[in-house]
Amino acid sequence: MTEPNTRIKIRPAVESDIPTITAIYNDAVRTTVAVWNDEVVDEDNRLAWLRSYQQPSTRAIVAEQDGEVLGYATYGEFRHYDGFRHTVENSIYVDGTRRAGGVGTALLQALVADAREAGKHVMVAAIEGGNTASLKLHAKIGFQECGTVRQVGTKFDRWLDMTLMQIIL
Ligand SMILES: CC(C)(COP(=O)(O)OP(=O)(O)OC[C@H]1O[C@@H](n2cnc3c(N)ncnc32)[C@H](O)[C@@H]1OP(=O)(O)O)[C@@H](O)C(=O)NCCC(=O)NCCS
Repeated sequence: MTEPNTRIKIRPAVESDIPTITAIYNDAVRTTVAVWNDEVVDEDNRLAWLRSYQQPSTRAIVAEQDGEVLGYATYGEFRHYDGFRHTVENSIYVDGTRRAGGVGTALLQALVADAREAGKHVMVAAIEGGNTASLKLHAKIGFQECGTVRQVGTKFDRWLDMTLMQIIL
């Protein structure tokens, strides 16, 4: 069990974080099946992305230690129909050199607390079925598995399963 890292500071993501966020995202695109995109992006792309998470019912946060951004997380719309307005979906990425050190835990705890405070009812995570670190991270924070949709994605020439997890806030 990772000890809580009290040196990790969580704060809203801001535009000056974009170079680091872009690097973390592009590394995940290149090397993981966490994000089901094939192409890396430029900083303008991530700036537009950040602005879309600075709207009502959304959130973008970063984890920082000694002035260095180690990871980021968001929540935003789950599905684009009125009836889903109390539900959000999250995403969370930690720098490849800083994983398994409590950063994801700090980000997800803060994200859940923020969504609860904002009056949201449910947070959903859609996780690649073999992503043990993410499945365990979410379970640790109190998410429960809802089920797995088989072979709905593809990357690196193989089919990917999507496991849904949820927490009632
Ligand atoms: C998934 C991810 C966000 C987890 O963040 P992290 O900072 O590494 O996680 P933490 O150090 O806070 O660990 C949280 C829990 O996850 C589990 N865990 C973390 N890394 C693990 C690994 N490599 N293997 C198995 N379990 C792991 C542990 O249960 C851990 O809790 P514990 O140490 O208290 O037992 C991070 O690995 C990551 O960014 N991965 C690539 C992108 C990604 O998969 N994002 C999620 C998309 S759904």
